[in-house]
Amino acid sequence: MQNIAHVRSDGYIHRNSYKNKILKNEMDEEIRMKANLYYFSGTGNSLFIAKTIKATMEQEHELHNLEEKNIEGDIEVRIIPIQKFNQSKEIQDQSDVIGIIYPTYFLDAPNVVKNFVKKLSVSKNSYLFLYASYGETLGNALHNMNRMFGDNQVVENYEVVLPDNSIIFESKKEEIPKMLEVGETIIREHAKEIYRHKITAKSPYSFKYHLVAGGMKPLARKGLGFTKMKVDKDKCNGCGLCKSLCPMKNILLEEQSTLSKAPTFGKNCESCFSCLHYCPKEAITYQRMSKKKVNFQYRHPRISVKEMVDAQRDI
Ligand SMILES: Cc1cc2nc3c(=O)[nH]c(=O)nc-3n(C[C@H](O)[C@H](O)[C@H](O)COP(=O)(O)O)c2cc1C
Ligand code: SF4
Ligand code: SF4
Repeated sequence: MQNIAHVRSDGYIHRNSYKNKILKNEMDEEIRMKANLYYFSGTGNSLFIAKTIKATMEQEHELHNLEEKNIEGDIEVRIIPIQKFNQSKEIQDQSDVIGIIYPTYFLDAPNVVKNFVKKLSVSKNSYLFLYASYGETLGNALHNMNRMFGDNQVVENYEVVLPDNSIIFESKKEEIPKMLEVGETIIREHAKEIYRHKITAKSPYSFKYHLVAGGMKPLARKGLGFTKMKVDKDKCNGCGLCKSLCPMKNILLEEQSTLSKAPTFGKNCESCFSCLHYCPKEAITYQRMSKKKVNFQYRHPRISVKEMVDAQRDI
């Protein structure tokens, strides 16, 4: 259990427990609160959550300093793509706040995120939170991740509905702007709670969704070919964006002739659908995608292609 001496009756951990702990950052500046936000994102929703949490935490810190007129120590919030650690054996993090932000896949967390958590060790004093986004049904996407940390680690849980990029259950185009607006308000409120280290409720386990996920994963992956992307070579212009975006380094660009190049896909696909949604020629589909769905592409409108590509640097 969390050290209850620091938990206030309103459900927040008292900030005084962090107040006297002044850290130094790489520039030798004093840091009062250090936060690392790890994220995985196919179409920008999770990156948007991470950016909104960072911006809101920084605003809260500024307000807090103004109110208390005590400007000793700053806040440092870093946003880190999870795929950077795909080849790492062990990850240690002692930051005050550690967040893991990810989309829901098949009523569960993505495998790449679970593999990251297997290698991660965090300090017992850290405020550790999970943040899952989903289109309609969360299932056990938070619960299963909680279990991976074991009973001795306190994990806080946050969730938000954002547009669904899964193609088969895609959000209606006309509903997307409202979903994004409502989602942003919720994320901002959550970020304030994260800054103040709120103690959240446990995410409940659903046996029903455990069973549904057991059928859904093989059906989507093997039956529909969710992890086997294919390209329409007549549409592809060989621009290479799909290769630059793939968080799993699963795409190669091969010469088709002396004039044209087209992607080929390996066996390490996470079905994030980044290549499919960002392809400027709508040339990528999963293996058995219905022709009716070809024109459905979703990208978070406030996340640029450059930000998505930059996340793949140094992997
Ligand atoms: C392969 C796949 C499976 C998905 N499964 C679910 C699901 O089980 N329940 C759900 O509500 N949304 C599901 N989604 C939708 C995503 O969780 C949602 O759109 C998320 O916000 C996308 O985040 P991102 O833009 O950071 O990748 C799925 C999406 C994909 C690509
Ligand atoms: S992003 Fe689309 S057009 Fe560009 S190389 Fe990939 S498949 Fe071809
Ligand atoms: S091949 Fe496409 S869907 Fe698969 S991991 Fe790479 S970007 Fe995502």
